[in-house]
Amino acid sequence: MSRAPTPLDEKLKRRIARSGPLGVAEYMEICLADPEYGYYRTRDPLGARGDFITAPEISQIFGELIGLWCAEVWRGMGEPGPFQLIELGPGRGTLMADALRAAKAVPDFVQQARLHLVETSPVLRQEQAERLAEHAPQWHDTFTAVPPGPSIVIANEFLDALPVRQFVRRGGGWRERLIAPGGDGALAFVESPGPPDGDPRIPLDIATGAQPGDIAEIRPAANALAAEFGRRAADHPLAVLIVDYGHVQSAPGDTLQAMSAHGYTDPLERPGDQDLTAHVDFAEFARRAEESGLRTHGPLEQGQFLLALGLAHRADRLMKGAGKEQAALIETAARRLADPAQMGALFKVLAATDTNGPAPPPFPATSQEPTQGVIC
Ligand SMILES: C[S@@+](CC[C@H](N)C(=O)[O-])C[C@H]1O[C@@H](n2cnc3c(N)ncnc32)[C@H](O)[C@@H]1O
Repeated sequence: MSRAPTPLDEKLKRRIARSGPLGVAEYMEICLADPEYGYYRTRDPLGARGDFITAPEISQIFGELIGLWCAEVWRGMGEPGPFQLIELGPGRGTLMADALRAAKAVPDFVQQARLHLVETSPVLRQEQAERLAEHAPQWHDTFTAVPPGPSIVIANEFLDALPVRQFVRRGGGWRERLIAPGGDGALAFVESPGPPDGDPRIPLDIATGAQPGDIAEIRPAANALAAEFGRRAADHPLAVLIVDYGHVQSAPGDTLQAMSAHGYTDPLERPGDQDLTAHVDFAEFARRAEESGLRTHGPLEQGQFLLALGLAHRADRLMKGAGKEQAALIETAARRLADPAQMGALFKVLAATDTNGPAPPPFPATSQEPTQGVIC
């Protein structure tokens, strides 16, 4: 079924006519963040009536366990006085509201936390303001704008929204994957006539043995963020928790995806009107974080991480205080987060810390197995 072009479709085509084909990263950036028509600038996309649902919107337990994780990490840092509690891309503010409610079990933690939210969407900022008013958050457009100090950073489904550049293996080299109108006027993928601009530093695991037609992805904004984490950790204690969908080893593949009304759609259709993401390359992010002087932990599968922190225990406690129907909903939601066939294995959890403190729970100091133990 053909659809009327979106206003952003027209705007993109005018821009391409003026300045030539767009890189995939520029396309993603414009679709998500164009000041007039960008996806995140114009709507709240979350929830049953939106385009997708995230872990904190599925179960309060997700945010609660992360709140207790933050309090444990803060203790491990030596309980610094005022410290920055930072969330990147906080959505509706649900995760942080659940986290801070659970962390009231450690009153000094909540008292010393200065809440900083890195968010570009005016619509979502409004929702965050409503849910988090009692914690007096400060908002920033970028992570670099958050004032220095000891910091704990949370990012759930944030990295996947950062734009990726894509390259196609041709002969012995790479061509950049670009976007321009095809013969029928619809946006289509094309390739740069020559090698890509700059040195894209395609991960070795992808470049080695790449076959003609293979696609490589890099995420410059995530690499810059990893470097910024390292700069902050040079002066103050830092712990970062990244939760997202993606792969543990760098590998070739086209992971650009669009989602609308809870289904996958064509990323080049209806620009600005559907969510655009790409999987996170956790190996590359960890390499960049370590290059910047951080120690990384994991990744663990989300299911392993949540169960080790006490997901089942917390679900049982909530179910005991609930009626039969509500208890069934609590159980289904907890299972959705942890079951490997649902979100439990696709989503991974990676922590990065300065090199002075202990490994954060439940990441082991030396082996790859998570330590067991309930912190709720
Ligand atoms: C998929 S949503 C995840 C929301 C939330 N973390 C959750 O789990 O429900 C992505 C979030 O990142 C924000 N976001 C996307 N790109 C951003 C950027 N470049 N800078 C700051 N925030 C961004 C969106 O507005 C939204 O709050």
